[in-house]
Amino acid sequence: MNRIDRRQALALALGAGFLQNATTGAAADALSGASSLIPLNYNENPLGPGPKAREAIIAATRESWRYADGEHLQRLIAAIATHERVTPEQVAVGSGSGELLHILALGWAARGSVTCAWPTYGQLMGFAEKMGATVRRVPLDAELRHDANAIDAATPTGTSLVYLCNPNNPTGTVLPASELGDLCLTLAQRTTVVIDEAYMDFVESGATASMVHLTRGGADIVVLRTFSKVHGLAGLRVGYAIGRPDTIARIRSLELVSPNMPGVLAATASLADQIFVERSRNSVITDRRRVTAVCRELGMRCSDSYGNFVFVRTGMPATDFRDRMRELGIEVGRLFAPLTDWSRISLGRPEDNTALIAALRTLKRGGVIGRVVSISSAVRA
Ligand SMILES: Cc1ncc(COP(=O)(O)O)c(C=O)c1O
Repeated sequence: MNRIDRRQALALALGAGFLQNATTGAAADALSGASSLIPLNYNENPLGPGPKAREAIIAATRESWRYADGEHLQRLIAAIATHERVTPEQVAVGSGSGELLHILALGWAARGSVTCAWPTYGQLMGFAEKMGATVRRVPLDAELRHDANAIDAATPTGTSLVYLCNPNNPTGTVLPASELGDLCLTLAQRTTVVIDEAYMDFVESGATASMVHLTRGGADIVVLRTFSKVHGLAGLRVGYAIGRPDTIARIRSLELVSPNMPGVLAATASLADQIFVERSRNSVITDRRRVTAVCRELGMRCSDSYGNFVFVRTGMPATDFRDRMRELGIEVGRLFAPLTDWSRISLGRPEDNTALIAALRTLKRGGVIGRVVSISSAVRA
């Protein structure tokens, strides 16, 4: 089948009547130079910045002759500290949490060692390896969650750092708060524990919880958060770390990139826009349930994802699945070895998710997906 573009994918999915409503979005895409495929591959938030952040971005055009690392940054740090109920000395802001992951790799793990679950979000480990670190990758358990006991056992004294991602990317799975808290406190007696909570805002209450409270007690734990997900500001590059004042001072001293004015102003405004944050969160939770239900109905195994994405076993090589989805106008995530026949599919706008469901049904009708296979055999693969 020839590739089709984004509007055609939506029309295919929903019938021609939908096309009129989709036109505005398509025109905006043309102006912005966006790809013709529906981008469900990078766990972005297609709602984009909320109303208050948009106003702040416009205001930032006036302010952008100034460096942002003075009073503007201090205001953002103060707002984050209030939001997280910590002191400003416990907050470091980075150009995305990606910068903070690089700082931790450079300042803590270079020529040292890191323990992490696998597969997980690999940015810190990839950079640490380039800096000469050894990485111990501990397989996820049969439910594709972090294996707390195995991680503990794989972390000898002298380990430079442990990286835990909760919810985990790419599986979206979580450890319950009490189990994760125990693991963090045990490990923090031996090493620095980094907990990446990029997707925490999408967790339904009770499934897990942030570990920020542990940093107030003085444990050697760093929590990372980002404005790229629930706040819809991925392109503006703002994230933050919460930790002990001494750890945070060291992170700040290793700053790689100074913060940018639109990002700092938009993040400060977005933090105060809880109506938008709730909308963003509800949109993800509603469609995560909708898409997961359809995947299961079509015979595909799904991990218990609490992120703004689903992780599904397609029963075919992830690269082939990605190609078939591209033919249907949708870009899904890359391959995550060793789970070679699973695919991470980000949630888009409701209409994007409707198009996704239609594409999955098309593949099912063609007999391409839906063979029932067990999760544990995937983990062993
Ligand atoms: C778990 C996790 N951490 C960190 C990041 C980096 O986010 P950013 O640098 O945009 O804050 C991502 C990006 O997708 C992620 O999935």
